[in-house]
Amino acid sequence: MVEAPWFEIDRKGLKKVLARKGKEFVTYELIQNSWDENTTKVNVSLKRIPNTRKAELIVEDDNPEGFADLSHAFTLFAESKKKGDVQKRGRFNLGEKLVLALCETAEISSTTGTVRFTESGRSRSKSKTASGSVFKGVLHMTDAEIKRCEEAVRQLLPPHGIQTFFNGVLIPSRPILSSLTAALATEIADEEGQLRPTTRKTTVEIYDTLPGETATLYEMGIPVVATEDRWHINVQQKVPLNVDRDNVSPSYLAYVRAHVVEHMQSDLTQEDANAPWVKEAINRYGDELSNDTVNRIADLRFGEKRVSYDPSDPEANKLAVSQGYMVVHGASLSKPEWNTIRRAGAILPAGQVTPSPKPYGPNGRPLTDVPKSEWTPNMRAVVAYAVNIARELMGVEIEVRVVNDSWWGFNATYGTSRVLTLNVGALGARWFDGPLENINDLLIHEFGHQYSGDHLSHKYYDALTALGGRLCTLAFAKREIFNPVLHLISGNTLSLSISIPDLEIGDTPCYP
Ligand SMILES: Nc1ncnc2c1ncn2[C@@H]1O[C@H](COP(=O)(O)OP(=O)(O)OP(=O)(O)O)[C@@H](O)[C@H]1O
Ligand SMILES: [Mg+2]
Repeated sequence: MVEAPWFEIDRKGLKKVLARKGKEFVTYELIQNSWDENTTKVNVSLKRIPNTRKAELIVEDDNPEGFADLSHAFTLFAESKKKGDVQKRGRFNLGEKLVLALCETAEISSTTGTVRFTESGRSRSKSKTASGSVFKGVLHMTDAEIKRCEEAVRQLLPPHGIQTFFNGVLIPSRPILSSLTAALATEIADEEGQLRPTTRKTTVEIYDTLPGETATLYEMGIPVVATEDRWHINVQQKVPLNVDRDNVSPSYLAYVRAHVVEHMQSDLTQEDANAPWVKEAINRYGDELSNDTVNRIADLRFGEKRVSYDPSDPEANKLAVSQGYMVVHGASLSKPEWNTIRRAGAILPAGQVTPSPKPYGPNGRPLTDVPKSEWTPNMRAVVAYAVNIARELMGVEIEVRVVNDSWWGFNATYGTSRVLTLNVGALGARWFDGPLENINDLLIHEFGHQYSGDHLSHKYYDALTALGGRLCTLAFAKREIFNPVLHLISGNTLSLSISIPDLEIGDTPCYP
């Protein structure tokens, strides 16, 4: 029984499968094979063969050794000697064959011989190059395909030390904007030649994009996938690629991006901070970012004055807004973004930055009452007046405490307990001596809290104006309630004794 090899290759079938890829990859495959060798110069040319629908592709290099084993030019998946070397691009022993599959005819000449591929088959000849290798292929190409190949070649980042020409013109090597070192996933063959994932320290080069270019991830100068980041990223070791060589896993990309974000943090702009590539880096690898970098991103996204919405202290959120802070709500950031932001202390809750006044702390120290027997006549007068107007204005019977606690940072409090507390320690004993407008000022403020505890709510300021309006009417309609404090009405109340700065610009619109 004659044994046949397991596989046969249907070259024309392979060509049809490759049709989905576009033809740009052919130049990349041949150029990277030359770059992988001991080369200082690579000449690439791609030209229409006049009056045909075909083009001739030539890639020539000056590697003195040439092809070590010319049979690798036509053997798919032979052991690639490059797969054990993370600093070489080749690994599958496939690329050259994919290019050949697209060719009508081809010829590879090297130091070890020449192979010719024609419609009738493959043949070898002994003619050799003195040094270097030349690939010549003829393939069907439309003008658009030729143009796309030219554009693809312009995107290459030729390694320093290898002059690469396209149709006679040097592809310029570009200045590196910055470079960093990172331990990145790569693949390398073990002793048995099996490609295995591993992690290794490598250099990552960062380049500016040229006008009109889309930022791209590169493997040692060969474009892998357009990323739409801010910069080109050129990884100086094997990148874990799919077999099509045109993508990496989202996780690999995010990890590289996190390193770029960290390294380039001072160059990031507001647009970068809001761009998907930075968000993706934080979402997957926020832990890799320093607190400094996270703070910088938060500065760019939300401004330097920022707090997070604090459901435990509603007034604190409004105080923050009134003091020019941006209040960042939960939905503005993803869960992993919040985790990173919190870890870095980059956005604090409003309750910590602009807390609402809290008269009694958690371990509420008791207040020291001034006994009624020690109240001055004017204290008694003010208390009686407060009880009177509370009844008339709000229809409630209140209790009034006078306390003397200078450590307690509040003039007075009033709330649902219907207890008005006046703090001599903060107000000063002379406050009780008038003028009455100061007393009314404080009582209206406190009684507003009968309706709302939130100083910045509509409900509260509606209550203040209603109380003020009603108090004025009472002054005419029920004068006797003012009796206790008539003597505190100052003769000189024409201008406000409290200082309220004038509005700076324009009119203030008023809501109905
Ligand atoms: N210009 C060249 N100079 C010297 N040897 C070459 C050249 N081009 C190809 N070769 C040899 O031919 C082999 C086959 O190339 P091919 O592109 O098919 O595979 P590869 O580069 O090893 O892996 P990959 O499929 O990942 O590109 C290479 O491994 C290399 O040994
Ligand atoms: Mg190759």
